[in-house]
Amino acid sequence: MMSEDIIWHSHKIGLNERESQQAHKGCVLWFTGLSGSGKSTLADALEQALYQHSDSPIRTYLLDGDNLRHGLCRDLGFSEEDRHENIRRVGEVAKLMVDAGLIVLTAFISPYREDRQQVRSHFEQGRFIEIFVDTPLHICEARDPKGLYQKARRGEIKQFSGIDSPYERPVDPELHLDGTLSINKLTQQILIYLQQNQIYR
Ligand code: ADX
Repeated sequence: MMSEDIIWHSHKIGLNERESQQAHKGCVLWFTGLSGSGKSTLADALEQALYQHSDSPIRTYLLDGDNLRHGLCRDLGFSEEDRHENIRRVGEVAKLMVDAGLIVLTAFISPYREDRQQVRSHFEQGRFIEIFVDTPLHICEARDPKGLYQKARRGEIKQFSGIDSPYERPVDPELHLDGTLSINKLTQQILIYLQQNQIYR
């Protein structure tokens, strides 16, 4: 619990100052979708495309569920409570990185609408961009890149999203992508959105 004796300090160099020195805004691209929907692959491809932007550097950072669960979130499992905490932590890290001026890409299942809403509420309008990678369960399951769906069906993994743990679809995401399209097409769709919304020049 936070003590009332801890007082927020406002520093002189803030997001506005940082943004005045770069050609893009700080924001978070929050990918959500089932395991195997293509979130991580797409975030990876998008980050490469942004890296290759030739006019001026675009600073990005990719926070990925599987990777953060090796470190910052290694103490968490997949109960409802642990997933809330996972997303809360990621939201806090993303907030700091956005304040640092980065375009932050996050790839977490983030199955609960309320958790995504909570994270969104920490950002100014336009800085939290929810990207729903909508891939039907049967396709995710057929892809099964890590063999986890098979294990979940055999009962060897419990509380697997989409099988015996819920996934709450976004109601009004900034981008609703058809996860069965090619990664290349989806990357282009996101780049167009970012340009149209003046995230970068
Ligand atoms: S979240 O629900 O808390 O957002 P997160 O994105 O961090 O999940 O981690 C999901 C990844 O962990 C999946 O891509 C999968 O590789 C792995 N995983 C292991 N067990 C589970 C499970 N029970 N449910 C979902 N994903 C799992």
